[in-house]
Amino acid sequence: MELPFAESWKIKMIEPIRKSTREEREQWLKEAHYNVFQLKAEQVYIDLLTDSGTGAMSQEQWAAMMLGDESYAGATSFYKLQSTIQRIFGMPYIIPTHQGRAAENVLFSYLVKEGDIIPGNAHFDTTKGHIESRKAKAIDVTCDEAKDTQLEVPFKGNVNIEKLEKIIKENPGKVPFMVLTVTNNTVGGQPVSMKNIKETCALCHRYGVPVVMDSARFAENAYFIKTREEGYADKTIKEIALEMYADADAATMSAKKDGVVNMGGFIATRREEWYEGAKLFCIPFEGYVTYGGMNGRDMNALAQGLDENTEFDMLETRIRQVEYLAKRLDEFGIPYQRPAGGHAIFVDADKVLTHVPKEQFPAQTLTCELYLEAGIRACEIGYMLADRDPVTRENRFGGLDLLRMAIPRRVYTNNHMDVIAVALKNVYDRREQITTGVEIEWEAPLMRHFTVKLRRV
Ligand SMILES: Cc1ncc(COP(=O)(O)O)c(C=O)c1O
Repeated sequence: MELPFAESWKIKMIEPIRKSTREEREQWLKEAHYNVFQLKAEQVYIDLLTDSGTGAMSQEQWAAMMLGDESYAGATSFYKLQSTIQRIFGMPYIIPTHQGRAAENVLFSYLVKEGDIIPGNAHFDTTKGHIESRKAKAIDVTCDEAKDTQLEVPFKGNVNIEKLEKIIKENPGKVPFMVLTVTNNTVGGQPVSMKNIKETCALCHRYGVPVVMDSARFAENAYFIKTREEGYADKTIKEIALEMYADADAATMSAKKDGVVNMGGFIATRREEWYEGAKLFCIPFEGYVTYGGMNGRDMNALAQGLDENTEFDMLETRIRQVEYLAKRLDEFGIPYQRPAGGHAIFVDADKVLTHVPKEQFPAQTLTCELYLEAGIRACEIGYMLADRDPVTRENRFGGLDLLRMAIPRRVYTNNHMDVIAVALKNVYDRREQITTGVEIEWEAPLMRHFTVKLRRV
């Protein structure tokens, strides 16, 4: 008999978590204005808000932290991180930042001007925020397949090359770069194929447009290339990663994901002038260029995390856990963005809460229901997150309305996945009775989903 699959690690340290009653959760959610970002972590049983900064570090990462060099300038920890990034991404110039959005802030301060157009395969909200706050425009060029959650295609994060070419052609001199996000978080943690990465870079370069890769989940993307794309089965994750970046001009990285650290990020580039330009913004925003917002010990942990999370076993354990949860949802017929994403399951809230009008935010409503059901905190990646159009100030209802259950790396067991699946099934079973959603009481002008105050309709 074939042995079943099991994790490629064992547990050394545990953190207790606590269940609550439905009455407690009703009260807490009301106090949080029906926005799960406003809950206290101790009011949550299983936390699927994000996979960002929530992973469990390895014994080697903790050991590396003890060797952190906290020198203000030229710390050994910086050089260790620099050489690790250079080896994995193949780019010579590195600027550490305290997280992904800080990398965007530093690099975009140098690159983005008012009136610019920046195409991308579904910019993440902070990426879009950093573009729009500079009075530039982010245009989505994700492939159309991504919009149909029930379509099972291997690389749903891909760029639509024709759409991209049209935008570049129509806006000569106005496109300072394009953003290629791997994996494509916004459409469901869906990967981009190597073929598509190469075609995107070739097209952009033909028009003199550089490519910046938003790399938060680059290792998971490399795993999908290895397991799904012809010709890559025998390559290592590190070989695939190097090939993914071979044609790119720069990368911004939220290291809190595939770096498996609680805080950290960086910019990598092969363009010396970009490095010199971005450095000028790193110093006032983040700090001196050999620490840029990170402690020496954190840079050590990140160097180690990048190395071990670009090994196949680590990624296989992680992605198979997400697939396990997906299979449980299949048993109950719950619709999600297919196939399962790398870091999360994205439930199609529009297809679950069919009686809740879009003006009452179905995915946000489903997020509240899941929390009330079992103390599980997921995250809305839908109409609330989409913000308003910066010009018309209308809600943007054009995209998908998803409930994201992000799985932290190396944190929960498959027993937790079972609890999540059954809790969602219980909500799903009473979906016909859920006929109203939530409405906005107060919202911030940008990135409203973090702080929005809602009330039940
Ligand atoms: C694709 C992508 N880009 C950028 C970011 C921003 O990174 P950070 O949260 O570290 O600022 C995120 C974070 O969730 C992300 O998923």
